[in-house]
Amino acid sequence: MKKYSKILVAFDGSELSVKALNEAIAMGKENEALEIDVVTALNPTAQISSALVYASILNELRKEAVDMLEGISEKLSVQLPNHKIKTKVLEGNPGNEIVEYADENDRDLIIMGSRGLNGIREWFLGSVSHAVLQRSHCPVLIVK
Ligand SMILES: Nc1ncnc2c1ncn2[C@@H]1O[C@H](COP(=O)(O)OP(=O)(O)O)[C@@H](O)[C@H]1O
Ligand SMILES: [Mg+2]
Repeated sequence: MKKYSKILVAFDGSELSVKALNEAIAMGKENEALEIDVVTALNPTAQISSALVYASILNELRKEAVDMLEGISEKLSVQLPNHKIKTKVLEGNPGNEIVEYADENDRDLIIMGSRGLNGIREWFLGSVSHAVLQRSHCPVLIVK
């Protein structure tokens, strides 16, 4: 796995996304030069007619996402103190945002879970992993 140098972890707080993150950490331990970005995408889909309510919900979600990624940053700085690590909250359709981020930031591998927080078990892949797998221009490692 040493051929990958700039990887992207798609993180939603789910068990499998933690597993994806741990996979990235394991790769980092084998490769000092590995750069790891961790992103989470906010996508408030509920139909909210009041702009004020919408803004306050969005604010709350942003705060939660920032807090979650701060925890990840700390974990990574303990596990991989000398690596180049970045975390970022994205806003919009998660599949599109993840692929766009990977393109714009020259990622050569995306790591994510097969399922996330919604977990309807009928399908093997969740909608976000399905979308990323279909649209990404780099290899995708799906953790299960
Ligand atoms: N909003 C998100 N931001 C970043 N990564 C995400 C997001 N949602 C899902 N992922 C990534 O995609 C994987 C699969 O999740 P998803 O396709 O949403 O499945 P589910 O339908 O079970 O929620 C997760 O394990 C995580 O790695
Ligand atoms: Mg999901």
